[in-house]
Amino acid sequence: MTEKLKIWADGPVITVSNGMEEKHVEIINTGLLRIYKKKNSEQLVKLHYAKENINIITEETNGGIYILFSHYRLHFSDSLTMSIERNGKEYFKEYDGDTAIYVTKKDFSLAELEGHKREEVKTEFKTQINIALFDKEDKIYGLGDKAAQLNRRDYEYVSWNTDDPSQHNESYQSLYKSINYMLVNHHGSEYYGIFYPSSYECVFNLGKYSEQFMYIGSEKGEYDYFLVLGENPAEITVRYASLVGNTLFVPRKMLGYHQSRWSYNAEEMEEIREKFAEYELPIDYIHMDIDYMDHYKVYTVKKEEFPDLRETAERFAKEGIDLITIIDPGVKVEDGYDIYDHLKEHGGFATYEGEQYVNQVWPGDSKYPNYFEKETADYITQVTENFMEEYKISGIWCDMNEPASFNGPLPDKVEFKSEDGCHYHEEVHNLYGEYMTRAIAKAFENANKRPTVITRAAFATTSSFSTTWNGDNQSLWAHLETSLPQVMTMNFCNFAVNGVDIGGFGNETTKELLIRWMQANMFSLFLRNHSAMNTRNQEPYAFDEETLKIYRSMLKLRYEFIPYLYDALEKAHRTGIPALRPLFFDNPDDERTKQINDEVLVGDKLLFAPIVRQGETIRAVYLPKGKWIHYFTKEEYEGEKTYLIDMPLDSTGIFIKAGSIIPLYKNLLHIENEKLKTLYLYIEKGGNGEYIHYEDDGESLDYKKGIFNRYQITKTAKKIKFKTIEENYNSGYQEIILLYGDRELRRPFCTEFDCEL
Ligand code: GLC
Repeated sequence: MTEKLKIWADGPVITVSNGMEEKHVEIINTGLLRIYKKKNSEQLVKLHYAKENINIITEETNGGIYILFSHYRLHFSDSLTMSIERNGKEYFKEYDGDTAIYVTKKDFSLAELEGHKREEVKTEFKTQINIALFDKEDKIYGLGDKAAQLNRRDYEYVSWNTDDPSQHNESYQSLYKSINYMLVNHHGSEYYGIFYPSSYECVFNLGKYSEQFMYIGSEKGEYDYFLVLGENPAEITVRYASLVGNTLFVPRKMLGYHQSRWSYNAEEMEEIREKFAEYELPIDYIHMDIDYMDHYKVYTVKKEEFPDLRETAERFAKEGIDLITIIDPGVKVEDGYDIYDHLKEHGGFATYEGEQYVNQVWPGDSKYPNYFEKETADYITQVTENFMEEYKISGIWCDMNEPASFNGPLPDKVEFKSEDGCHYHEEVHNLYGEYMTRAIAKAFENANKRPTVITRAAFATTSSFSTTWNGDNQSLWAHLETSLPQVMTMNFCNFAVNGVDIGGFGNETTKELLIRWMQANMFSLFLRNHSAMNTRNQEPYAFDEETLKIYRSMLKLRYEFIPYLYDALEKAHRTGIPALRPLFFDNPDDERTKQINDEVLVGDKLLFAPIVRQGETIRAVYLPKGKWIHYFTKEEYEGEKTYLIDMPLDSTGIFIKAGSIIPLYKNLLHIENEKLKTLYLYIEKGGNGEYIHYEDDGESLDYKKGIFNRYQITKTAKKIKFKTIEENYNSGYQEIILLYGDRELRRPFCTEFDCEL
């Protein structure tokens, strides 16, 4: 601390000046700080602040000036770097040392002759936020859909939504989404979160070139980030979720199974409907890829193939199967095509150098709707409403919205004019997917329906508008393996309904891979088998009897767990607690959980540990503290130990916490309200337990008006107590069946009862 440094507080904003520059720290609440030199614009990135009045104390000691609030103590160096102590212990530190990075400069031309590519390393940025790493054990989680393990330390990522269908792996810097949120763990059990709110391209170097620090670098964004404080990952994640907005609450049906493939025609759709019924395979949706469109013109239908799509949709719906159609942003340049004509005439497309901008996607020459302009967004909402109504379509799958462009990238200065000014592509690229889904989600909300929307491209704040899948993976064991850390990371980045293409999209799957993939992803909230055209078929019956049998048993099991998954989703939506999460999330002090990539907690009662490597039929499973029961063998395991568990091809690792109560439905082939008359309560032996079960109509927005029920179920050594704690919805339940060991205790549904075990 020198005399030069000045610190003053203006309400919640602390300003520090060293005579040359100023930096600000806004204390938004006890768990959220914003540190900035200049704030990024929030015109398009909409954040939510839970402001609190915080008692801020400035303390002057021999060591310098400190800012105190709650149990935190902030200190600033002469170069304005900030460090934070919590309860007297080092908690967070901006890096204050030398940021020079060693990058090899040797001539590379010989290697280039063979086609090798040098990794581009940019080491200096207009804006660079440097954060100290405390030691080798620090772990950095987050950043959304990256094809990587949970701990992303030592890698570098670039937030720039990218459509690249080649093999996604850990050297891939950019995927389809830009979710600038990291959860950092250090000193054993200390955690904090960082969110960088800029939509411009930015680099996250997570200690790749230095053991001392990580950095966020950008050319266009500002020095401006949020620091999320908390005692454990759950607290931090909840605070982050409230900043970016509640994760989308989807219709219950969406948790069912989705069957898809690029190239399905009308005949194949009929075949799926018939075969799923014939083989008793649960299913709720068939997805219609671009093949249904007339010359890939969005919001059109190829009449030769689907002369009466509405009739098809209605007929399928009667059998419990709804249709979801893909919609891309690119609008085919073709005079006389109504959507094109309308947007052209009303200036609804992005422009460049005074002209409407043209690039290429599936239909050939295409223009990009400017979803940032209200008039255009409203028009897309209207067109979506009309389209869904005309053809009885239940959901929209938004693809190619990075936006993809086959004829080179969109120039930085492509213009997206809006009511509040002109935004350039460089600023809105990472938000384009989100604004598309906002317009489309609105079509559902206008009809008092929860959005059934899936998107490939997303920004951090997109989680309130759409569900996501992680794009074009391939039928590779490595991609199956990364699907678990991807889905877990997406979940604690506030994207609850997320999944990958089961079986793999590109390449040819194998019987074993398909079975293991289904087992490994059976609890992902978005569950879709999807594949590319011209790959081998991978529907559950595309292989042999054995595959069909195993696939069916896994699907049926998934459907049994629907109420448990729905409860986890409702909780994620309401509180920000992720539905699926890594083991360290619930066990933040247990070092052994920190890098387990192939085990997942679903809610706090279920742990699954599937096989994700070829040929394995036995695997090591680490069980965290507590007592766990193998769901199939009923064997009991003491936690904080590793076990070798047999998992032949027809089995997977599902463990239930002793004493748990889990709501189940049975014998469902489709998720339809009228079939949800019996609620099963699976009671696991050992210990006491409590569970809150949620019930509503599963599709409308009425829950926002409080139209739902909540039931509290408690288990003690000898008794189950069932109590309705919130009741505004006319329950569909008629019967409750308690499943306890070999016993089935049946009783007519009533709002409150006790039952001896
Ligand atoms: C993209 C999507 C993929 C889809 C294909 C054709 O590659 O990621 O899911 O099947 O386009 O629409």
